[in-house]
Amino acid sequence: MTWEIAEPRVDRSIDEREVARWNEELTGKDPWDVVAWALERFHPRIALACSFGAEDVALVDMVHRARPDARIFYLDTGLLFPETYEVRDRIVRRYQPALLQVRPELTVEEQARRFGEALWSRDPNACCNLRKVEPLKRVLAGLDAWITGIRREQAPTRANAQVVEVDRKFGLIKFNPLAHWTHRQVWAYIHRHQIPYNVLHDRGYPSIGCAPCTRPVQPGEDPRAGRWSGFNKTECGLHQ
Ligand code: ADX
Ligand code: SF4
Repeated sequence: MTWEIAEPRVDRSIDEREVARWNEELTGKDPWDVVAWALERFHPRIALACSFGAEDVALVDMVHRARPDARIFYLDTGLLFPETYEVRDRIVRRYQPALLQVRPELTVEEQARRFGEALWSRDPNACCNLRKVEPLKRVLAGLDAWITGIRREQAPTRANAQVVEVDRKFGLIKFNPLAHWTHRQVWAYIHRHQIPYNVLHDRGYPSIGCAPCTRPVQPGEDPRAGRWSGFNKTECGLHQ
């Protein structure tokens, strides 16, 4: 099952005070209740952004419980780990979700022809922009709200994430149902419900992005230290 990107929204006005009220109402609720509330209000103009990392597979399960036809998408940069495609396939078999593969305009080869080999090793911001941010913009333009796996404890840049907030960068509403959850709570949920997860998590990769830009971390290192290691970059532009 899949779904299609809708025509871009015409009216982009958002009532900020209403969103603040929703946030007050939903903060402190269990993430699955937040997910159910969000889908009840916004489906089919809402989708879960899924990287197939630990948070996101937990959210796939929650979304599925609330609405088996809930929309999910993944940004397929063409540079994901084979293990990420494997967990995608296991998730598809288990949940049969309405899953949309979102690809960049340029294939990896076309990008290399136009910008040179391995753009990520020279200018990761430009590469993320082409392979993640632009495709994300296309999907979000046709939605009123999106759901992400962002948690406050993941990074200082995420410490202020709200359960519901206005996403000013992309001009829609953003739900972060796991904002207040800890790493341990995410894993307890995954194990309790026996949700398929990326095996790289068991091999020292707490945070998983594209293969060229993700390395394992040592015990005690920051969980996101393995992302864009060696560059002064901690976010790919989806959330900041
Ligand atoms: S990133 O910005 O550094 O890549 P991170 O990997 O922590 O983000 O993921 C944070 C959230 O962004 C995920 O929970 C998910 O909602 C969304 N996200 C990240 N990568 C993707 C992707 N490839 N496809 C869809 N959503 C993604
Ligand atoms: Fe490119 Fe790396 Fe960003 Fe993936 S994470 S889009 S390979 S710079």
